Amino acid sequence: MVAEWKHIEDIMSEEYVGKRVCIRGWIYRKSVVGGKAFVRVRDSTGVIQVVVDREVLGDEIVKTLKDMGLEASVKTCGILVKQPRAPGGYEIHTDYFEIVGTSRDFPIKGNEGIEYLLDHRHLWLRSRRLTEIMKIKHTVLKAGRDYFIENNWWEVTPPILTASAVEGGATLFPVKYFDKTAYLSQSAQLYLEVLIYSLEKVWSLTPSFRAEKSRTRRHLAEYWHLEAEAAWYNMEDMMKVTAELVAYIVDKVLESNRRQLEFLGRKLDVLKRSREPNYPAIKYDEAISILQKKGVNIEWGDDLGADEERILTQEFETPFFITHFPKDIKSFYMKMDANDPRVVLGFDLLAPEGYGEIIGGSEREDNYEVLYQRIIEQGYDPSNYKWYLDLRKYGSVPHSGFGLGIERLVMWIAGLDHIRDAIPFPRYRGRIYP
Ligand code: 4AD
Ligand code: MG
Repeated sequence: MVAEWKHIEDIMSEEYVGKRVCIRGWIYRKSVVGGKAFVRVRDSTGVIQVVVDREVLGDEIVKTLKDMGLEASVKTCGILVKQPRAPGGYEIHTDYFEIVGTSRDFPIKGNEGIEYLLDHRHLWLRSRRLTEIMKIKHTVLKAGRDYFIENNWWEVTPPILTASAVEGGATLFPVKYFDKTAYLSQSAQLYLEVLIYSLEKVWSLTPSFRAEKSRTRRHLAEYWHLEAEAAWYNMEDMMKVTAELVAYIVDKVLESNRRQLEFLGRKLDVLKRSREPNYPAIKYDEAISILQKKGVNIEWGDDLGADEERILTQEFETPFFITHFPKDIKSFYMKMDANDPRVVLGFDLLAPEGYGEIIGGSEREDNYEVLYQRIIEQGYDPSNYKWYLDLRKYGSVPHSGFGLGIERLVMWIAGLDHIRDAIPFPRYRGRIYP
């Protein structure tokens, strides 16, 4: 049989009513009533009802369908008919129905607990909800890349196997590296800093790894990290880049993924406001006094955790920055503020609606002596950072950069309550299968 296979989304229109169409997909729901089987078939684009009538195709196929499990793969052709009672308003009256891959007793029936579902992630990924989230993530990744390409940043490929920490030894994953120990990269930053001396403005998209000990709604052990670094940029310049980047991504998702956002029940007002990159900024000092006024038990010098961030997000209706953190709660590479040596020129971008940090960035310490001291102060061995320190010996320049957690951004944009659904195969403590 020669058929022109169509996607379900494309045939659900007046244009095809009365015409013969052919689709391929998987059985999503089915019921057999009298001599007819009503089979809902899904593909990557949607779901349509297919009516298999024994008057047309005989008894055998209707009987087979009665016993067939969900998720069997099928090919079918027939006339597209308007049917207000069918989901989407159309159905196919089939004259050809073939089961390609059988399925018996599909393990996901619809009322399983979360650990069971995670053990069956390889099958759970077929769900509508996870499919729609993947499509949003696709747009986020594409828009992130497009932003940098359109603005003349160079894409580079930093290593994943590394010899030392960027973001603290506590979350390093060691791996056996021949007769040495290496670590999975927590951030490409230090390598991007190397590359600005030749390319000036660079970016990369890589997996980053964090051995986070506690399980939270927003931490993964492996996540996708979009990072950028530029020579001659100060903190404000880099904040502007991050706001433009996030606004650009939000705009593209609103443009390309309305159906997905609607399916997920995402309210659009905050997203619509966030397509303009005029995000407000407060200093850490101000964040502390807001929290104290709200009765939070916190003092200057304390780090802001998920709970504190959630409270601060109530004050804003778009993403917003917090800047000038105390140096002791931030990494060794952040440049100290010349006007206040207690704080660094670091910034976080927080998503509203309770989500919190999606980006961390800073101006980098570009003075050899100061950086050397900061490395010691934070308990690291400067000899592990010789190459990184060298950058401050040969033509040091002011520079800044940031890292954006792709799954954190997807989580906010899609309105998810857990980061695990922003990645097909989530990894966190206690979860490596499938
Ligand atoms: O704030 P972080 O730790 O900053 C850095 O890694 C810098 N070296 C980046 C740079 O300047 N090039 O991580 C950056 C972002 C966070 O804002 C967050 O969005 C995400 O990475 N992130 C995580 N996402 C998921 N799971 C985790 N365990 C994450 N840890 C950080
Ligand atoms: Mg951070």
